[in-house]
Amino acid sequence: DETEAQARFERLIAEDQRIEPRDWMPEAYRATLIRQVAQHAHSEIIGMQPEGAWLTRAPSLRRKAILLAKVQDEAGHGLYLYSACETLGADRADLTEKLVTGRQKYSSIFNYPTLSFADVGVIGWLVDGAAICNQVPLCRSSYGPYARAMIRICKEESFHQRQGYELLMTMMGGTEEQRAQVRDAVDRWWWPSLMMFGPPDAESPNTARSMAWRIKRHTNDELRQRFVDITVPQAEALGVSLPDPDLRWNAERGHYDHGPIDWDELSRVIRGDGPCNAERIATRRAAHRDGEWVRRAASAHAAKRAARDAV
Ligand code: ACO
Repeated sequence: DETEAQARFERLIAEDQRIEPRDWMPEAYRATLIRQVAQHAHSEIIGMQPEGAWLTRAPSLRRKAILLAKVQDEAGHGLYLYSACETLGADRADLTEKLVTGRQKYSSIFNYPTLSFADVGVIGWLVDGAAICNQVPLCRSSYGPYARAMIRICKEESFHQRQGYELLMTMMGGTEEQRAQVRDAVDRWWWPSLMMFGPPDAESPNTARSMAWRIKRHTNDELRQRFVDITVPQAEALGVSLPDPDLRWNAERGHYDHGPIDWDELSRVIRGDGPCNAERIATRRAAHRDGEWVRRAASAHAAKRAARDAV
């Protein structure tokens, strides 16, 4: 009965075991996972756009092959995550509908423009670097299908991060104009990357409950701090400065301190009022409409096969 199922759920969480699709789970646990995993899937799919814009303008065959592989990986991540969401009873077509009608969110970070090829490098280094900090702990998330999907996603993300850093190293060893492009891209992406981790803990309505359920393993601020601590020495090795005059080592805390984050900007971008929100959704909506015939053909094919197999 339900009390017994609830006790079993709580025991599994307390023992740090995984909850699987067949297991009983509280409705709120299911709903919070659908919310987070769908949002994560949507982010991967929308995240193909900012860099996808550079595929036709990559400066060499090598850079194009790397970028193509990376953007295809993101499509794959979206698909694993939509599948994980389906194990919770969500319907994939419904999730897409909610994305294109603005009823489900995707990461704020993908609403900023990519103005030069240096942005491809900075997205790899900072955005994918932030994604790794946030996602490695999710490999131990309490929901089995989500945790398992994250293992492969994190391996691919670390390739994305490395290709970005290597691209920036190459540009920093190039012309003065290339170095200026890198500096400009770092200046534009630094603060939005810190915002990716979500609102500060005191204003994060979901963190406490998600941590109690072990969906999340660390708070938003803890992960943001970890990212800053990892990234500052990388910026030094690259020879760029980060656009924050308050950034300095705090020996007492054993962490870098950073300046205030513009939380109004994050809320604006989440609400739909960032530099590229309208364009991202319009592009996704058009792709969905243009793919209609593919979905219809695939369904007709599947129905024909099923009918044949039934004979
Ligand atoms: N962009 C858009 N929405 C955000 C962001 C952001 N950067 N940060 C927080 N939010 C939303 C939350 O989804 C939540 O809205 P909702 O309740 O309507 O769903 C609200 O702001 C309040 O935030 P929190 O209470 O802190 O929400 P939560 O506990 O879900 O934490 C976080 C947010 C850290 C993003 C978490 O959901 C998470 O770890 N998600 C998985 C990682 C992910 O989605 N990454 C996508 C970008 S990385 C990439 O794709 C390369």
